[in-house]
Amino acid sequence: MEPKKDIDWSKLGFGYTATEYRWQATWEDGKWTEDGLVEDPKLHLYESACVFQYSQSCFEGLKAYRTKEGKIVTFRPDMNAERMYNSAQRLEMPPLPKELFLKSIDEVVRANAQWVPPYGTGCSLYIRPFMIGSGPQIGVAPAPSYLYRVFVMPVGAYFKGAVKPLKLCVSDFDRAAPHGTGDIKAGLNYAMSLHPTMEAHRNGYAENLYLDPQTRTYVEETGGANILFVDQDNTLVVPKSNSILPSITRRSLVYVGEHYLGLKVVERQVRFDEIKNFKECCLCGTAAVLAPVGLIHTHEGDIMIPSGMDKMGEVCTKLRTTLTGIQDGAIEAPKGWIR
Ligand code: COI
Repeated sequence: MEPKKDIDWSKLGFGYTATEYRWQATWEDGKWTEDGLVEDPKLHLYESACVFQYSQSCFEGLKAYRTKEGKIVTFRPDMNAERMYNSAQRLEMPPLPKELFLKSIDEVVRANAQWVPPYGTGCSLYIRPFMIGSGPQIGVAPAPSYLYRVFVMPVGAYFKGAVKPLKLCVSDFDRAAPHGTGDIKAGLNYAMSLHPTMEAHRNGYAENLYLDPQTRTYVEETGGANILFVDQDNTLVVPKSNSILPSITRRSLVYVGEHYLGLKVVERQVRFDEIKNFKECCLCGTAAVLAPVGLIHTHEGDIMIPSGMDKMGEVCTKLRTTLTGIQDGAIEAPKGWIR
């Protein structure tokens, strides 16, 4: 199906649009039942639904792309199926079988095919699967029933200015507790980041950089995206921690760096005081793709990243071009990455 004609793709940002179809399944009495495609973008729920009282929710983010030949593809949806399975288990929710997750993605994308942006626009169809404790629950316990739903919308760049370097500030708040839920995609992780994020925006920064909650020595991530660095000899340095979200984009970039670009890649704890030694820094995630960082504000002053405030560094540009080429079919993908 051809893309919609009445959208100016060059002006599209990252926001919600209600398309025609969403896909849904419900869990009750120990089993998942498929409702399949539904049209109403609104939900009718108990006031006492566990999601409202105790934030029992998790979600995912992935994208569909239109290739040069006009095919519609999704990028590594099996990885999202797996991560959502892990999130659900940690939140005492019934995990959605991975085949059902993949089926839901295929069907919702197919039904909304006209919303997949044209090849070459830099836009894509953002896919948002989520699961909530929908049954009534007033004692602190998991819900008796659950709703899984996937909706989609066309999106452009997550950060305004697309590849213009961002200013970050080191947060005085923590994103995750030492043995908490930082490594799963729980809605509650994002709720607690809203105040620090708005504080950062009020102070002129695009995002917060969170440090490890135990010692505040090591770099973690920004909450909406993982972070990575390039050192002086072009090694890609990726922070390792139990409390950051295992970004699918980050794991794909590690592979792309090693196997497509011949870079040395090191995944290790990164001390905050090492940042001044790196020459490039980027945020990465499904929504963010790969967004350059130019400055990191701390109470002790600003750290200027040598790649500057005008453009993305050379290594990150290569990483971004290769990854997006793989995603939209211009570059051959590793086996199993494209559905
Ligand atoms: C994503 O990159 O898909 C995310 O979930 C980050 C953010 C939009 C919450």
